[in-house]
Amino acid sequence: MTNQDDQFKKVVSHAKEYGYVFQSSEIYDGLSAVYDYAQNGAELKKNIRDYWWKAMVQMHDNIVGIDASIFMHPTTWKASGHVDAFNDPLIDNKDSKKRYRADVLIEDYCAKIEGKIDKEVDKAAKRFGEAFNKEEFITTNPRVVGYYDKIKTILSRMAKSLESEDLADVKALIEELEIADPLTGSRNWTEVKQFNLMFGTKLGASAESAMDLYLRPETAQGIFVNFLNVQKSGRMKIPFGIAQTGKAFRNEIVARQFIFRMREFEQMEMQFFIKPGTQKEWFEHWKEARMKWHLSLGMGTENYRFHDHEKLAHYADAATDIEFKFPFGFKELEGIHSRTDFDLKQHEEFSGKKLQYFDHETNESYTPYVLETSIGLDRMFLAVFSNALVEEELENNTTRTVLKLPSVLAPVKAAILPLVKKDGLPEIARQIMDDLKWDFNVTYDEKDAVGRRYRRQDANGTPFCITVDHDTLEDQTVTIRHRDTMEQTRVKIEDLREIIHQEVDVKTWLKKM
Ligand code: GAP
Repeated sequence: MTNQDDQFKKVVSHAKEYGYVFQSSEIYDGLSAVYDYAQNGAELKKNIRDYWWKAMVQMHDNIVGIDASIFMHPTTWKASGHVDAFNDPLIDNKDSKKRYRADVLIEDYCAKIEGKIDKEVDKAAKRFGEAFNKEEFITTNPRVVGYYDKIKTILSRMAKSLESEDLADVKALIEELEIADPLTGSRNWTEVKQFNLMFGTKLGASAESAMDLYLRPETAQGIFVNFLNVQKSGRMKIPFGIAQTGKAFRNEIVARQFIFRMREFEQMEMQFFIKPGTQKEWFEHWKEARMKWHLSLGMGTENYRFHDHEKLAHYADAATDIEFKFPFGFKELEGIHSRTDFDLKQHEEFSGKKLQYFDHETNESYTPYVLETSIGLDRMFLAVFSNALVEEELENNTTRTVLKLPSVLAPVKAAILPLVKKDGLPEIARQIMDDLKWDFNVTYDEKDAVGRRYRRQDANGTPFCITVDHDTLEDQTVTIRHRDTMEQTRVKIEDLREIIHQEVDVKTWLKKM
């Protein structure tokens, strides 16, 4: 098992042990790629959603939020292109009977080459020490340049074949690269076939009158079909945005990597309606704005990168992913797409209703272009959670497991701990908790020695522990301990609210943008 696999296993088991994420219907052996958020997970997820909503909706006076239904008129999905084109290329292994996404097999092959590049870079960094210039090394070292060229050639061939629906060439590429079934090593592959990812269902009481519906595979279409309603009722002027968060459903062929690729998941999307011709500058604007949002959480600049698309979706004229370094390598976290006027035009055509914007200044009507930012809430959860989980060596040669969640996102902001369960200390602790719970999600813990309680809260990601001891009875002060530094200070009870507020307040964090 590699270090990466090992770290990822720890993430999954920690998420279960500390009440963050459970397998859905676990008592019936679970349902593949469907997960439940537990008591801490639901809070963390809500905090991420709120952090996004605050930055995207509340902080922009030209962006409003909506909450559209999961069920939509089935023609929506014909218009959007999902009925015809929302497919993944799949391939089966004849020996293992396992099914894979052909493009993912090829991408994983390229990720292995990237792993080789990383190794070369690490070796060179050690060899050259302080004088090491990474940029120069990766652009001049023949072996590394060769690896990059190889990746580029493979990915552009794959993009071209998928674009032209040349699935035989996708299979040929898999064979030429000698890609084997990751589980068994077999290279006995079937042809590559397209597979539609939408879940179908029925609306109506009787079989004869029932209407075929789909569970929405993206939230974006709920925004497009409401474009004119929102624009008119909100008197919105271009440029303006409509945002929403909500569930989306995809019958993913390869559902693995925990909550990275799920069949039921949540998206946080924003469509920004703009004047045609301005899409390039808005694309750059939202690339930068979204990256700043990510970086404001302090999870390390080195863990993010942009990946511009070679193969564009049917609706886009430019697209990039913000990739994050998950325990299994760099993978897509968020997509930023310049969607042109594709969706609005399609809905105009299929509905027969005009979906145009009337510009009062120029007295002309036009179909706006759209810039989209789309991030998976569950994927963001995994990014935050996996990045936060660390094993720390302490000075006394012991280790501690600590979940260094950005404190603005932490499910529980403070734990109130009476040093002992007697002498009136629990009563004071409960009183502090009753005061603080108006402002923060806080918890009370009196079980075990205080050191063990600290460790428990560290592993749970709680930024502050507040300990009530016998001195509290005398001078109304408590010890406040910081999760990351383990530093302890003595403060007045009356100052607690402000101390916690300063550290966990959304404003403090978003101001870093
Ligand atoms: N409206 C555009 C759209 O849906 P996408 O790239 O297919 O674009 C956007 O999805 C984001 O949704 C992705 O960047 C990812 O974070 C998340 N996402 C997509 N499929 C997912 C899945 N099966 N499980 C979890 N998150 C997913």
